[in-house]
This record gives sequence, C-alpha cells and structure tokens, in this order.
Amino acid sequence: MADLQLTGAEPAVATDGVWLACIECGETFPPFADVRYTCDDCDGLLEVRYADLPTWGDFREDRRGVWRYAAALPFEEGVSLPEGDTQLHDVPGLEAETGLERLRVKHEGMNPTGSFKDRGMTVGVRVAKEVGVDRLACASTGNTSAALAAYGARGNMETLVLLPAGKVAAGKVAQASLHGARILEVDGNFDTCLDIVQDLAARGEAYLLNSLNPFRLEGQKTIGLEILEQFRDEEGAYPDRVVLPVGNAGNTAALYKCFRELVRSGALPEEEVPALTGVQAEGSAPMVEAIEHGWDHTERWENVETKATAIRIGNPVNAPKALPGIRATGGTAVAVSDDAIQTAQRDLAEEGVGVEPASAASIAGLRTLRQRGVVTADERVVCLTTGHLLKDPDAAVEAGSEPEPVPGDTEGVLAHLQG
Ligand code: F0G
Repeated sequence: MADLQLTGAEPAVATDGVWLACIECGETFPPFADVRYTCDDCDGLLEVRYADLPTWGDFREDRRGVWRYAAALPFEEGVSLPEGDTQLHDVPGLEAETGLERLRVKHEGMNPTGSFKDRGMTVGVRVAKEVGVDRLACASTGNTSAALAAYGARGNMETLVLLPAGKVAAGKVAQASLHGARILEVDGNFDTCLDIVQDLAARGEAYLLNSLNPFRLEGQKTIGLEILEQFRDEEGAYPDRVVLPVGNAGNTAALYKCFRELVRSGALPEEEVPALTGVQAEGSAPMVEAIEHGWDHTERWENVETKATAIRIGNPVNAPKALPGIRATGGTAVAVSDDAIQTAQRDLAEEGVGVEPASAASIAGLRTLRQRGVVTADERVVCLTTGHLLKDPDAAVEAGSEPEPVPGDTEGVLAHLQG
C-alpha cells in the first residue's frame, strides 16, 4: 500500500492531537483556527491528521452509528440526527448470479436523509460551529444539499445550496427545500456550481461543506469502519473488495483513509485491505479514464450526461486522494451504461433493496468486472449503495412497472386480474 504519510511528530499547530496537512507538500495547519480548504502554499488537498490512531478496542460500545467511532474523529460528538449504523443486506439472487463467494450490500440509503452524506455532515457541521461561521454552503447533485439542509437546520445555521438547474432528482430538491435551505438553481452543471461555491467560500461568504472540506471525509470514513466490523462479525474475515459509485471521489478517498489509518494503528493487516473499486457512468467517467491511462490526475470532462444524476460530475475534486487509493489497494475503476444501471436498480429492488440509480452503478460495475474476469469467483465483495430509491421517484417509476387502471368495484378488479 502506498505510504502516504498519515501521522508524524505532532506539529505545533495541532489542537488536541488534530491538525491539517497538505497531501502534496506536507505543510501543516491548525485544524480550526482559520477557515481553509486547500493548502496555502501549493493549493493541494488537505487531510485531517491525528497524533493517535485508534484500533478496534478504542471504539465506544455504548454508542451506535458515526459517533461510535469518535476515537477516529476530531470530536467526541457532533450535530447528530443520528446517522450511520446502516446494515449489510443479503442479496441471494445477485450473489448466485455473480457466482461470488459472498456478496453483501451496504445500504447507505438508510441514513436519516437517505444518503451517506449524513455521515460527513454530522462532522462537518460540528466543525462549522467550532470555526464559528454562520452560513453553510455546498454545490450538489442533490444528496449533499439534502444533508446540508437537514444538518444545518439541526444546528440552527443558515444554508445555501447551488444545484445544476433541471438535473437534480425531485426528492432531493424537496428535502433541501423543506429543511429550509436557500436553493440557487445554476445555469450550468455540478462542476460549475462547485467552481462558484468555492469562489464564494474564498470570499468569506459561506463555509463550504462539499467533500473538498477534509472534515466531511472524516465522517464518511465510518462507512469503512462499519463494513469491516460487520463483515468480520458475520463472515470471520474482512471483505476482499468494496465496490462503490464514484462522482467527486470523496467516498473513495474517505474509505482509503479509513483503511490506511487502520493499517497504521495495527488494527488491519495490510494484506487484508479491501480492493477499492470505483464505478462511474459512461457519460461521466473521468476517474475511469485516469485509471485506464495511469494518470495521477483527472482531465475535466466539460459535457457529462447520465440518468444517474447523483454522479453526473466531470471534475472529481478528490481525484488526487482517490486515485492512489484505488491503485494502492489493488482496485480498479469501470464505466457502465445507463441501461446497465437501470437493470441493476430493478434487480436490487427485486431483492427488496430500493436504491437510486447512482447507487445501482455499484452492482452494474461488479457485473461488468465479473464478466471481464477482473473480479474472481472466490472473492467476498461488499457493494455500496449510496442513496435511497425515493430520492429519485421519476427514475424509479421509469424502471418499474406501469400502474394498471381498474374499475372501483371488487368484481371489476377480479375480472381485470383474471383477464
Ligand atoms: N452516490 C450518490 C447517491 C451520490 O449522491 C454521490 C455524490 C455519489 C454516489 C458519489 O460520491 O462524490 O463521494 O464520489 N453526490 C454528491 C452530491 C456529489 O452533491 O450529492 P462521491
């Protein structure tokens, strides 16, 4: 596994054993003294570092969810709804079809606002309180905006969300709206929204809570901690591979950081680190392109398109953190068609697991990699499904069966059923 520096002597800038470090030049910064999202010197991405890295026995037995893992986070408690503690689902049909040793689905759609973003926000909004800002903002393909709006509401803070006009699923806009966010519909795609919100943040207009904010990823690390614990408790071993949909590559970066920290603390043998395997939609696949070409960066795709609107992203800001993670863990990245995504969404639903299209990309990608022989039959795999079916009711209706009109009496209904 690539030896990206994780800890070191605690720098003078640390607060309670926590500091920020640039992943490019190593410069360190105090964690909460001023607001910054990238390195002052070289503009590289920042990472949260700790003087002490926890091992399994350090996690709290008296709690469930994200804050069970406080020993791996910058605070003991956050602004919580609460979040995390999602279950691993059996999918016997898909397990048999793929012929894998074991297949489980970690359904992050079961978080309070219906996506994994809640894990990042419970930490991010806590940090915003520490830093002392009053307006929170994000660019979003939808789920981040829903989570920010809910956690901002819980934290009594003003929230501003920038969404690509016409490209956000109905459920997500409804959530952001009802939780009281101010919603700006931008004439542009997600990447344009993120450019603007970064400018607003740089001008001090708002505190940015996209996954460029390194504290968001700390919360999302807990997906990895839960997967490892749950799988080990069920199977007596860690999974060989985790397959996940990729947009801005924040989750990929978060899982890699989770695994590296556990290796460093001695909690996870290096050879047992699961292979991080990213899936993108064909019309929006800069990470796949970078992996296929061996690049250490992504090229921005200006025109992205997919029905999996959550991952309709052409400039994944966390690529410098995520690409080394995919490579160092022996993983890969693969692109899938919208048709394959829809089929996977339907197949998951047939097993009772209701997910939005982007989430189903993980299953579609797994299928492709099994067909190519990249994933082998002896593997134990966890697919991450990132958002709930109800997030995108239009996509669900399109993938599902048509309602049948019937008369308003039992005889008529019976005649229809027998007809
Ligand atoms: N799945 C869903 C359902 C998402 O909403 C997102 C990202 C991803 C996967 C990709 O995760 O960015 O960490 O690689 N949605 C963001 C948003 C961009 O604004 O809600 P990633």
